[in-house]
Amino acid sequence: MNEKKLAGEKAAEYIQNGMTIGLGSGSTVYWTIQKLGELVSQGLQIKAIPSSMETERLAKVAGIPLTSFFEVNELDLSIDGADEVDPTFNLIKGGGGALVREKFIDSFTRKFIIVVDESKLVTELGSFPLPVEVIPFGWEVTNKTLAELGCIPVLRKENDDIFISDNGNYIVDCHFPTIDDPISLHTNIKQLVGVVETGLFIDMADMMIVGKKDGVEIVTKKGIDEGKPK
Ligand code: 5RP
Repeated sequence: MNEKKLAGEKAAEYIQNGMTIGLGSGSTVYWTIQKLGELVSQGLQIKAIPSSMETERLAKVAGIPLTSFFEVNELDLSIDGADEVDPTFNLIKGGGGALVREKFIDSFTRKFIIVVDESKLVTELGSFPLPVEVIPFGWEVTNKTLAELGCIPVLRKENDDIFISDNGNYIVDCHFPTIDDPISLHTNIKQLVGVVETGLFIDMADMMIVGKKDGVEIVTKKGIDEGKPK
C-alpha cells in the first residue's frame, strides 16, 4: 500500500464543512489535495490557502476554492508533510523548499496535522539536512556564518541551477552532525542577518497521521489515538 496516500487521504477526514484550511506541500499532502478535490465535487464547502505555487496549482486542478491572508487571519486547520518528526513532534521541513510559507500557514492555524509515512519518524532530528531559506544578497557570507554554527552548508541546486524558492530566495541545506537542541539551534540561525527562516518547526504540530504498510496510525501529543476525527 502507498503509505503517503494512506496518511494524506486520512487527513481529509478531519476537514469539515465551512472550514478554511492551510494546505502544505509535498507528495503526501498531494493525496490530501486529491481527496479534498473529490469531496468538494461532492458538495464539501471549504476554502484553502496553499503553501506553495505547486500546491496552488494542484488545488486549482482539483477544484478546491482558494483564499488568502488578505481575507483570513487564522485558519481552522492546516495539513502538512514533514521530512523528519521527533517523538515530541518537532519537525524538519523544507525538503521541497516551501518552508517559509509552510511555517506561515502552520503557525496561523488552530490545529496543525502532520501527514507522514513511517520513514519520517526519528528519535533525534538531524539526519535530514536542515533547510534554511536565505536572501540571495550576500548568501556566501550567510553560508559562512551558518558554518560557524557547526554545519556544512550546501547551497541547494536544481539540475545545475541554483534552486529559487517561491519567495525568490535561496535554500541552504545545513548538514549538522546531530541536532540535540532544536530550539537553541533555530534561535541561533534565525538571528543571522540574511536568514529568512529555518526548517525547524518547534512545538507547532498537534497531531500526526502516520501511513504504514497495514494502515494509518493517529498519534496525538498524548499518545496513540483511536483514529476517529474529533
Ligand atoms: C516541503 C516540505 C514537505 O512537507 C516535506 O518535504 C515532505 O514532503 P513529502 O510529503 O513529499 O515527503 O517540507 O517544503
